[in-house]
Amino acid sequence: MILCIKSLRYIVVVTILAFGFTGLAQEKTVNDGVFTEAQVSAGQVVYDAQCKTCHNMRFYRDTLRSWNNQPLLYLWESIMGTMPADNPGSLMFEEYTDVIAYILSENGFPTGESELDPDNGMDTIAIVAP
Ligand code: HEC
Repeated sequence: MILCIKSLRYIVVVTILAFGFTGLAQEKTVNDGVFTEAQVSAGQVVYDAQCKTCHNMRFYRDTLRSWNNQPLLYLWESIMGTMPADNPGSLMFEEYTDVIAYILSENGFPTGESELDPDNGMDTIAIVAP
């Protein structure tokens, strides 16, 4: 009986590990139309009000380069946790998402049909250098 529970635990751990790894597999990149035109327009408004004063687009281009190959969700989390530097975390989730759509668009990445959504697949979208 004890043996049984032990092997069951083993199976659970192995399954979690296996799913963990597939979860990290990146199926898309920011080149695949992963945000909408509407998100870009909304993001520009937020950007102009909250981000423009401290960084220019050149800064974001360099940031995207340094995040090359990382999941887009990690950048979203990083920005949400630290920006705006004078008031971190002060925006709504949606505003952070829209700002990222705007920054990607300004760096030449295309809009598409699907909305960028931190709760839905953003961990499988890879950043590529602009
Ligand atoms: C009050 C000034 C200020 C404002 C406003 C501000 N930032 Fe920043 N930001 C900084 C500073 C300072 C750093 C860290 C130093 C650096 O890398 O230049 C930084 C770093 C960053 C980074 C690099 C993070 C990384 O891990 O590579 C990103 C991306 C960023 N900011 C995005 C934003 C966005 C998006 C907004 C608007 C929501 C914003 N910032 C608003 C000052 C600001």
